[in-house]
Amino acid sequence: MKEKVLKFGKQQSIKEDWILKDINLAIEKGEATALVGRNGSGKSTLLKIMTRILFPDTGTLKINGRVSSLLELGAGFHPDFTGLENIYMNASILGLSKKEIDTKLNDIIAFSELEEYIYQPVRIYSSGMYMRLAFSVAISVDPDILLIDEVLAVGDNAFQKKCIEKIKELKGQGKTIVIVTHDNSMVEKICDRAVWINNGEIHADGLPRDIIMQYMAFLSKEEDKRLLKNNTVNSSDSNIIDSSEELAIQSTKTGDISLVSRTGNKKAEIVDVWFSDFKGDRKQNFNTGDSIIININYRINEKTNSTVFGVGFFTSDKIYCYGTNTHIDRFKVAGDLPVEGTVLFKIDKLMLLPGVYKLDVAVHHENGEPYDYVTSAYSFQVSSDITDVGVVRLEHTWEIGD
Ligand SMILES: Nc1ncnc2c1ncn2[C@@H]1O[C@H](COP(=O)(O)OP(=O)(O)OP(=O)(O)O)[C@@H](O)[C@H]1O
Ligand SMILES: [Mg+2]
Repeated sequence: MKEKVLKFGKQQSIKEDWILKDINLAIEKGEATALVGRNGSGKSTLLKIMTRILFPDTGTLKINGRVSSLLELGAGFHPDFTGLENIYMNASILGLSKKEIDTKLNDIIAFSELEEYIYQPVRIYSSGMYMRLAFSVAISVDPDILLIDEVLAVGDNAFQKKCIEKIKELKGQGKTIVIVTHDNSMVEKICDRAVWINNGEIHADGLPRDIIMQYMAFLSKEEDKRLLKNNTVNSSDSNIIDSSEELAIQSTKTGDISLVSRTGNKKAEIVDVWFSDFKGDRKQNFNTGDSIIININYRINEKTNSTVFGVGFFTSDKIYCYGTNTHIDRFKVAGDLPVEGTVLFKIDKLMLLPGVYKLDVAVHHENGEPYDYVTSAYSFQVSSDITDVGVVRLEHTWEIGD
């Protein structure tokens, strides 16, 4: 109504859109299902329909059992009420009587670990504290069906772990769980099924591992498209490509690509560097274990001998992961180096773990005289669906000794 009144007389441009289309989903009792998908794909909307706070324009929803839900942060709370008052309000919305709440109150407070704050209004709560209270209430209802949207991510590690344990326990008791999350490890830890929603439609449905793999592959393709687009924009300003999110942001802010440090007497220079797979397709986003070629396009301005090309890999927080050059590797060019050309640094299996990596590329004389050193100008991203930690995956096996 407000829109109608305020825009009175103006051209109205109301656009109708279907947020969810052809959703056909049966979730069995005892199943733990994850909904995954990009921002705005309709996951929360679907969850709200399951909670019955939204109703579909067409189609039906059938639910068997008591539902408890944990939707957006703070939903079902009043900011001016104390934690304690909100427990009563929230739990009664979820279907508990005052008497039931009285008996469960201590457990709820104990689980949330918010004893000290329980008489404070929740507007002074941090995001994590909100979530603690909401989660504690949601599970106290003893639901048959627990719906959780995202919120767990704001809890600290210890509390998140506690929530996961609790969810597993509920699952063990045969409760049905639907969880929306962008945390893939959570999907694999908790769920037996994952449903990928894309643009309001079910794109894939299956085992968490398979769906996550497909979804990750899709995301990295999208990311590739974006990074390649960024690169074309940048390379029109300068030959130096910078595609890392951080630096790209910095350089658009200042409009200054000279942020990238570059030294040398330019007897030879790095003209361009790009990444590809072994088929030669340009890529910016790789999975751990993929093949990668670093293509170094150079030009020799002054004829020199004993030219050495080198590369150095750094994490985005500047940890030096690996460096080598053609001299160390005893790689000799047969005959004269062409005046212009491309040197390929090929890695059969890129064993770096997920993250953004920056590359230093250099061309210099064997005795160290620098021709062109380009620092941190090039970057690529690595993704993986395995959750080991560190910088590099060391090939290994486990065994029990005697
Ligand atoms: N009340 C509303 N009125 C109009 N459009 C809405 C409303 N709520 C959500 N939408 C639209 O519905 C689409 C799906 O939103 P939804 O919140 O379900 O996405 P999501 O998959 O949960 O995303 P995220 O991962 O960001 O939480 C979005 O395009 C959003 O703009
Ligand atoms: Mg959402």
